[in-house]
Amino acid sequence: MRDAATGWGRGALRTGLLAWTLTTLLLVLWGATPHAAAASSMQMHGALHRDGAVGIISHRGAAAIAPENTLAAMRVAIDRGVEFVETDVQLTADGVPILMHDPTLDRTTSGSGPVALRSFDEIRALDAGSWFSPEFAGEVVPTLEEFLDALEPSTTRALVELKGEWAIEQLEAVTELLRSRYMVNRVALQSFETPTLEGLQQVAPEFARVLLTREWDEGTVQQATELQVSAVGARTKLYDRRPELLQRLRAVGIGSLVYTLNTEKRWDQASRRGVDLVVTDDPVRLAVWRDAA
Ligand code: G3P
Ligand code: CA
Repeated sequence: MRDAATGWGRGALRTGLLAWTLTTLLLVLWGATPHAAAASSMQMHGALHRDGAVGIISHRGAAAIAPENTLAAMRVAIDRGVEFVETDVQLTADGVPILMHDPTLDRTTSGSGPVALRSFDEIRALDAGSWFSPEFAGEVVPTLEEFLDALEPSTTRALVELKGEWAIEQLEAVTELLRSRYMVNRVALQSFETPTLEGLQQVAPEFARVLLTREWDEGTVQQATELQVSAVGARTKLYDRRPELLQRLRAVGIGSLVYTLNTEKRWDQASRRGVDLVVTDDPVRLAVWRDAA
């Protein structure tokens, strides 16, 4: 029988109602999942999980090939087309996010003293390449924005480590910058600091997060689950203690990465162990090894 006003039969109405109910139910369930914010963040979550060969995370740009955390190092990884390039971010005294690993300027620039006590202009005037090789003299400390400029036209994703503890307002500012650059599907944020990961969960849940850990036991799996991270990262020696916990993580939908491996023996061990991604200073050699395997 057809409804006079709509021309729909009762069967069609019933089917439509059922489809609507199921869709609504799915949306509600979807909204209740930890990584539900947007399709793009799900893509990032998926990129941190590998079924076949290990994924490559090029460490501090490509620290074996060019001075760490400079644009020259970032370009090596991006040009090689690796899955992820890793970098470290800190704030200058005047609040500019820059790429820098150490809390002080001494090792990787011509300057000295704590990063957090120097303005961006002061840091920008330093040489960040000569310590590595004269060939890189004149490299500067890049801003996070300059890194995003280099990343944007590529297919490589970034694993951005927020060094130290970040206040909520600082997290809001950095994630707003990433959002304004449409980087939800391109950048995952990692940290050793629980409060920083909790802050990210609060202010920017749509960004995939990675827990870096110096502990490796049942509590780590529990912590990773509570923090709703996409992956956990640790050193090989930590995983050596209880390799079976990697499968426990995988069983609850959390991936794993191991840092920082630069030999074929270690890459092979990580691969056999079922680690999803390997952090390396030499993405070129790892890619050749992986392609030959
Ligand atoms: O990706 C993990 C790794 O970067 C953490 O160690 O000291 O190189 O920042 P670190
Ligand atoms: Ca790092």
